[in-house]
Order: sequence, then C-alpha cells, then structure tokens
Amino acid sequence: MRRLREGLDDPGSKGTHKAFEGAAHMNKERSVAVATQDDLIMARQVVRALAREEGFQTVEQTRLATAVGELARNALLYAGKGICTMQVRRNERDVSIVVTMIDEGPGIADIETALTPGFSMSWGGGLVGARRLVDRLDISSEPGHTEVSITLNRRL
Ligand SMILES: Nc1ncnc2c1ncn2[C@@H]1O[C@H](COP(=O)(O)OP(=O)(O)O)[C@@H](O)[C@H]1O
Ligand SMILES: [Mg+2]
Repeated sequence: MRRLREGLDDPGSKGTHKAFEGAAHMNKERSVAVATQDDLIMARQVVRALAREEGFQTVEQTRLATAVGELARNALLYAGKGICTMQVRRNERDVSIVVTMIDEGPGIADIETALTPGFSMSWGGGLVGARRLVDRLDISSEPGHTEVSITLNRRL
C-alpha cells in the first residue's frame, strides 16, 4: 500500500500520513494529514487506537472512528485535503477526545442546512450522523477555512 502511494502523492504530502505524536503537558496530541483515501483510513485507525488507549469501549471507538471518517471524507471531497488533529483532554472526572478536521476549501455555504437531518446522502450519515455518534460537534466555516470538531467523553 505504501509503495503504491509513492507515485500518487504530490510532493507536498509525502510522508504526511505518518501520525505525528506530541506530548505537550501530558496531553496527547496526534495529527494526520488527509489527502487520499488511504489517509482517511489512517485517520480512522489512529483515532480508534487513541480511544482504545484512553479506555473507551469498542463501540465508542467505532462511533468516533466513523464520525472522523465522515469529516475526513468531507475535507477530501469539498476541499481536496485537510488536517485531522486529535487531542486527549483529562480532568478529575472525565477524559475527552477532541478531533478537529481543518481544511482550506470553499467553506460550508449554509451550516444550518448542512446539519438538517436527512440532508446527507453519505452512507456514514454525513455531519448529522457524525453529530449523533459523538457527544458534541462544532462547526466554524468561512471561505478558505473550515473547522469541524467532534468530542467524545468518558466518565472516569
Ligand atoms: N469541509 C467542507 N467544506 C465545504 N463544504 C462542506 C464541508 N463539509 C460539508 N460541507 C457541505 O455540507 C453538506 C453536508 O455535509 P454532509 O452532512 O457530510 O453531507 P454530504 O457530504 O453527504 O452531502 C455537504 O453537502 C457540503 O455542501
Ligand atoms: Mg459528507
């Protein structure tokens, strides 16, 4: 799979699918550049592994991975590419995984319409489906910059 990708990548995205790991203030952060379908799968796998490490149950890992897949699919489809950043936030009571997908595409023209149940034609449920799968979904979008964040919480 790697070898096949070599020729397909544009020079700018070479190697970017390697998950970046940082540990600022003990808060784990990973990011995956999403420019191909393989990157989308990688983003799903990385967030699933992170959720497992943080003690989320299998069904919750799947919810989060599915939601992330929808955000990554949108970034690919509407903007061509994007960056997916995953952060773990902890306090005494909960652990949260916050995933933010950022792209530099045209923006979501009408956020309210985009969040109308039944709007998406996507098998994975699109933004509405993603919102149902997690505890929280936030969108901020303007031409040239779209940020969609999702959060999944677990009680400690
Ligand atoms: N990253 C994005 N950039 C621009 N437009 C977007 C983006 N994500 C979603 N949209 C817009 O919001 C709509 C709803 O998205 P979604 O719920 O995923 O449904 P679908 O992709 O199946 O149309 C899309 O049809 C598109 O117009
Ligand atoms: Mg979609």
